[in-house]
Amino acid sequence: MNRLGLTMGQEAYEHALRTNDTQEFDLLDKKWIQLSGVLGGDYNYATGLFASSLPYDGVQSMLEMGCGCGVASVVAALAGVPRVTALDINPAAVRTTQLNAERHGVADRVTALVSDLFSAVDEDATYDLIFWNSPFIQVPPDRTLDSDLAYHFFDPGYAMHERFCREARRRLTPAGRLFLGFSFAMGSSDRLRQVVSEAGFGGVRVHVQESFSVTPEELGSSPVYGEHADDDARVRIDFTLLELTR
Ligand SMILES: C[S@@+](CC[C@H](N)C(=O)[O-])C[C@H]1O[C@@H](n2cnc3c(N)ncnc32)[C@H](O)[C@@H]1O
Repeated sequence: MNRLGLTMGQEAYEHALRTNDTQEFDLLDKKWIQLSGVLGGDYNYATGLFASSLPYDGVQSMLEMGCGCGVASVVAALAGVPRVTALDINPAAVRTTQLNAERHGVADRVTALVSDLFSAVDEDATYDLIFWNSPFIQVPPDRTLDSDLAYHFFDPGYAMHERFCREARRRLTPAGRLFLGFSFAMGSSDRLRQVVSEAGFGGVRVHVQESFSVTPEELGSSPVYGEHADDDARVRIDFTLLELTR
């Protein structure tokens, strides 16, 4: 497990539990709604980066796993993808996605459903593009996810990543592509590579990456932040859109 990710994830989760009211937020030159019980507003940098970097050209069907506020689904529909399926285990996320699809005039192209991974879609449904900005903070396998918001951040043992990769592989069209929103600084890259390989993919390739660095003090008071500082006393954080290769 990644101690930096665990510490950052736990602090962000506790903050989110305290401050999670319904709100509007701005992203990619648009206004979005975020219902209570969903995340987006405060944590939307990676959301915007990934949603604006996915290859939508020629895509006829896209599945966004864990849609949250539905930003990538709406951006895909606005880019011309005719059939977008947006899934989330969190009912408030699904409702938020429906509201954002209506607000941006693409409700006829975006179908949002409550789903534990692929459970709500047809057994034989396949997609040209599958994307999950995943909860990449690995926690111990026996940790219970005790709120809908916990699913935003954490995956016990990466068991959900394991199930997702295995099932996503058979749900891609012949030329279909699979992308994961990830962070090498906060996620568990060795465990991810293991999961990806066991699911039958060739590996992972960086499609887009943005990095920045901050002082340990800017992250918080935990000594873990200082332990991860480089020679310049800064902690490097990345947001990375990975493509899983065949
Ligand atoms: C990091 S958040 C990303 C949210 C949004 N797509 C974004 O980019 O802002 C991960 C999302 O995956 C959802 N999720 C976690 N486990 C899930 C599961 N087993 N099935 C479906 N969705 C899940 C969470 O509820 C959350 O909305």
